[in-house]
Amino acid sequence: MNLLKVSDLTKNDIGGLLERAVRLKGLQKKGVPQSSLLGRVLGLIFDKSSTRTRVSFETAMFQLGGNTIFISGKDSQVGRGEPIRDTARVMARYVDALVVRTFGHPVIEEYAKYSDVPVINGLTDKDHPCQVLSDILTIVERHGSTDGLQVAWVGDGNNMANSWIEMAAVLGFNLKLACPAGYLPDETFLKEANAATEASIEVVETVEEAAEHADVLNTDVWASMGQEAESEERIKAFEKFQINSSVLSLANKGAMVMHCLPAHREEEITEEVLEGPNSVVWDQAENRLHMQKAILETLLT
Ligand code: CP
Ligand code: NVA
Repeated sequence: MNLLKVSDLTKNDIGGLLERAVRLKGLQKKGVPQSSLLGRVLGLIFDKSSTRTRVSFETAMFQLGGNTIFISGKDSQVGRGEPIRDTARVMARYVDALVVRTFGHPVIEEYAKYSDVPVINGLTDKDHPCQVLSDILTIVERHGSTDGLQVAWVGDGNNMANSWIEMAAVLGFNLKLACPAGYLPDETFLKEANAATEASIEVVETVEEAAEHADVLNTDVWASMGQEAESEERIKAFEKFQINSSVLSLANKGAMVMHCLPAHREEEITEEVLEGPNSVVWDQAENRLHMQKAILETLLT
């Protein structure tokens, strides 16, 4: 089994991952050593930069008794043109699972097609399933579940927005997305998500509309990795799509402010809100470790 996108999972699968992640987090906090992945090796192939994803996956493996091998696409033969299908088949002869971070989603689909071991999406231009699963863990720790919650997405209709859309469809919570014209999530993708759930997943015109009565306020950078050349033009287009204290004041009391990080202060989120009492960004980042342990155990044992 692979984990390429949120919709590869059922609500039950996610429930199982959450339960295991909570248990593993508790054991780690108590200092109980784990060895469920003793002797197993995780390969990581990254074509883009990373701090959280790389370190949390590597630490997860070490803490479960396993090991990791990290290669950056550009330093390996893939960067010199060796076909993905050859790399995938070779890597699968060495390692027990692969985490791939790359640009186009078809690249990771090709790894998955040719790999005999599970492939985990460590971020593509389309999806970031490990991040949103960790974010759901962060919400569930506070609220017990996502049932009845109103979630807002403010900013780019990017890989993280897509992951939230899929997650809203699988778990069935309401999601309002405020994105500037030209940067909306794909319409067909939205339609498919809505068809899969009774919950409402809708694009609204303004940030204020999305934030009103929200229990969770979410944002991400205006220019994702690979879009650096568009930064200037995006700063102009996204000017009104910022999470700041006046937007936060429209949300429900105690609303959780989320950001997958890295953050650009005073662009998509103000310093005041990012460092303020509603922000749960450090818990989100920590939960990558616990959730990914649950993912690795599920795929490898
Ligand atoms: N949120 C996230 O995936 O961070 P990195 O890019 O540092 O891995
Ligand atoms: N949307 C961002 C997420 C980074 C974790 C990017 O793709 O760069």
